Amino acid sequence: IPPPPLYYPSFPSGYENPAMTKNSSWSFPADFWWGVASAAYQVEGAVKDEGRGPSIWDVLTHRGGAVDYTIANDTGDIGDNHYYLYKQDIARIAALGTQVYSFSISWSRIMPFGRDLINEQALAHYDDVINTCIQYNVTPAVTLYHWDLPVYLMNLYGGWLSESIVDDFVEYARVVFSRYGNQVGYWFTLNEPIVFCSEYPYPDGFFKKTSIPAHQQPYLCGQSALLAHAKAYHLGKSLNLTGPISFKTNGGYKIPLTDSSADALAVQRAWDFNEGWFANPVFINGDYPSTLKAYTSTFLRNFTSEEQSLLKGSADLFAHDAYTSQFFFAPDAGIDACITNSSHPHYPSCANTSYTGPTGWNIGYAADPGSPWLHIATDWVPAFLRYIHDTWKPSSIAITEFGFSVPFEQMKTLSADIQSDLPRRVYYRAYMEGVLTAIAEGVPVVGTLAWSIVDNLEWSEGFGVRFGLQYVNFSDPARPRRYKASFFEYASIFKEYAATG
Ligand code: NOJ
Repeated sequence: IPPPPLYYPSFPSGYENPAMTKNSSWSFPADFWWGVASAAYQVEGAVKDEGRGPSIWDVLTHRGGAVDYTIANDTGDIGDNHYYLYKQDIARIAALGTQVYSFSISWSRIMPFGRDLINEQALAHYDDVINTCIQYNVTPAVTLYHWDLPVYLMNLYGGWLSESIVDDFVEYARVVFSRYGNQVGYWFTLNEPIVFCSEYPYPDGFFKKTSIPAHQQPYLCGQSALLAHAKAYHLGKSLNLTGPISFKTNGGYKIPLTDSSADALAVQRAWDFNEGWFANPVFINGDYPSTLKAYTSTFLRNFTSEEQSLLKGSADLFAHDAYTSQFFFAPDAGIDACITNSSHPHYPSCANTSYTGPTGWNIGYAADPGSPWLHIATDWVPAFLRYIHDTWKPSSIAITEFGFSVPFEQMKTLSADIQSDLPRRVYYRAYMEGVLTAIAEGVPVVGTLAWSIVDNLEWSEGFGVRFGLQYVNFSDPARPRRYKASFFEYASIFKEYAATG
C-alpha cells in the first residue's frame, strides 16, 4: 500500500493555512461559546486526598512490571496538582477571556466504594471549583465519566462489561445533578465511550474478571454505556436541568486512501464502527448501524423497544471530539473477505488506520523531532462538520475536544520554541477557520473546547505527549504553568471573528 499523499509538501512562510482564504462572511454567531477542557485523572493529582478511592487508572499507571502501561512510569499521583491549584487555573483562563471550562468530576471521589458512601468532602471540593468558575464569569461544563472508574466497581462486576453498572452510574449522576443542578452550563455524561470500551482497559485483559472473549468486550461495554447515558439523560431532564445534556463521541474525519470502491466501503464501515456505534442509537433510531448489529448478533442482546425509545433523542447536542483526519483502506483481501470473515485481522472495522497521514495528530507523537509537523492540514474540518450535520442531523454540534501535541515538546524543559508554539498556533487557527467555514455554510456549530487547559498526563503515553495551551514543568513538584502562544492565538480568533451588529 502506498504511503498517503502529502497535502502540503511544503509550508509557506507566515502562519496562514494554505487551504484557507480569509472570507469576509466569516463570523461566530453571537451565542457561540469557546473554552478549554481537562479531565480529573489527567490533571488533579491528590489521588489519596479527601476521601478519594482508587480508580482503575491508579492501578493501570502503577502496574509496572514487564508491561509498563505508561512510557515513563508516569502516574496521575500529582498530575498538575489541579486539585489544589484550580483557583489559579480558573483565574488564568479567565484572564484570557475563556468562556467555558470543561472538566470532569471524579466518580472515585464522589462514590468511591459503591452507592452507600457519598463523600461530602469531594462534593464540597467541586462546589468550590464550580463557584470559582462562576465568580470568574467562566461557565462550568461537567463530564461525569472521563475513564476513572472506581476500582471497587471493576472488581465487583467487571465495570462496564456488566449492565449492573447502569444503575450505579445513574445513582452517581443523581448525586452530581442534584448537587450542582443549574450551576453547570453543559453536561456530558460519558467521555469517548469508543475509547474507554475499545482501548482502556477493555479488552487488554489487565483486569481479569471475565472469560468474555476480547473481541466481544467493547460491544458489551458500549451497550452498558449507552443505557447508562440514556437513563442519566432522562434523569437530568426529570430534575429540570437547564443546561444541555449529551455525551462526547469521538473520531477523526475518514478519508479513503484511494478512489476504489473497496476503500469507500472501508470508510463507511469505519463510520459505522466508530461514530455510528454510539451516534446512531442516540441520533437516528435507537439502534446500532446494521453492519455492527450483524457483527455482534451472536453475543449482544437486542435493545428492547423501551430501551430504543429511551436512547433515541437522548442528547441535546452532538458533542464530538475531533482532532484530525485519518486515511482508511480495505484490507488486502478485499472488503468482502473482511465482511464475511471474522478472523480477519482488521475485522470488524474492515479498515486499517495505521496511516494517519500528514493530517494526523499522531505526527505529534513522532519520535523524530524533525518530523513533518509542517503538514498540518485542517481542510477536513468543514467536511467533517457537514458530514455530522447530514448524517445524524443534530440540532447543534459542539467540538468538545480538539488539539495538537508537538514532537519537540516531549523534551521536558521550557524553550523559546515551546512558548512561541508555532505548530499549535497554526493548527488552532486553521481548525477554527474550518469551523467558521462550516458555520458560513449553515452548519449549526455552537461551541469549541480546546484540549487542553494545561499539559497533562496523556494516559498510557505519560507526560511526554503535551496537548496543553499552557506549559507545565513536571520536574517541579509545584507544577508551575506558563502560557503558550497558542492560547493567545486561540483567544484572539474569537475577537477577530466576533459577531457584529
Ligand atoms: C481525548 C481524551 O478525552 C483525552 O482524555 C485525551 O487526553 C485527548 N483526547 C488527547 O488524546
